[in-house]
Amino acid sequence: MSDEHSLIDAEGAEEPGDEWEALDVSDTDVDRTARRQDREFSKFRERIKDADQFKVEGGVFDEATLRALYTLVQHGHIDAFGGPISTGKEAHVFLAAAPEADVAVKIYRINASDFTQMRRYLEGDPRFDDIGGKKKKVVLAWTKKEFANLKRAQAAGVRVPNPIAVERNVLVMEFLGSDGVRARRLGEVEVENPETAYEVVREYMCRLHRAGLVHGDLSEYNIVVHDSQLWVIDLGQAVTVHHPNSREFLERDCENVANFFARQGLETTGEELLADVTAARED
Ligand SMILES: Nc1ncnc2c1ncn2[C@@H]1O[C@H](COP(=O)(O)OP(=O)(O)O)[C@@H](O)[C@H]1O
Ligand SMILES: [Mg+2]
Repeated sequence: MSDEHSLIDAEGAEEPGDEWEALDVSDTDVDRTARRQDREFSKFRERIKDADQFKVEGGVFDEATLRALYTLVQHGHIDAFGGPISTGKEAHVFLAAAPEADVAVKIYRINASDFTQMRRYLEGDPRFDDIGGKKKKVVLAWTKKEFANLKRAQAAGVRVPNPIAVERNVLVMEFLGSDGVRARRLGEVEVENPETAYEVVREYMCRLHRAGLVHGDLSEYNIVVHDSQLWVIDLGQAVTVHHPNSREFLERDCENVANFFARQGLETTGEELLADVTAARED
């Protein structure tokens, strides 16, 4: 018989005795480190809770969000928090200092989020097949989706803020702006050369579509002007072209964008833009 899978010879085995195996219960380095981290986290939490810029509408962040922010600090993605850039319905965006440059920190609000609406975008996206109904899960998937969408858009040659890190409901990305002042949205500036701007946005839409993505909330509010270039932001709700509503979202994007440029004096319509964008995928 081979020794494999055989039992130990009972006679040869040691009888279970009442000997006491000494367990080392003294502090290990791990314990000490954990305690130090707990203390540091407590300090961090107090600091954040007292910080004026975080006394945003809807109160302070929940414990798990604070943990996520702390993790991002620990991982070296954030050095110090600056002021709020935007307080939206679903997310707050803050300026923060990082070792290399300023960053934008987008914090999704789990409780305030328009959860039913979010689910509509997630369901049907093959990347989030088994998301289920839990509110928290939906928001966490949403944050990851925005990160993934930014990566995909970037790879497709669309100017978007470089995604740096994602932790729970917090996304860290490149800050578009200078000296701590956010770049302005397309809708906030005098568009000097609408033809060129329109060409660029159309090309971005074509590239996104070729990469299998539909922005889903594209308008002059989610395009910013930075370094004399146009940048697309807010890709949380972007869906793949396989999403059952992707066509509806694309039509709406085209409508918004074309209407904006029509107001700038260009002769264009949503249908025309849609034809260009969809042709981009067929060739
Ligand atoms: N990376 C960034 N750099 C600079 N400003 C940003 C950045 N991301 C967002 N913002 C600013 O914050 C606002 C809200 O961000 P956005 O991602 O559009 O979220 P919302 O879902 O609230 O619209 C934007 O309109 C823009 O002014
Ligand atoms: Mg937006």
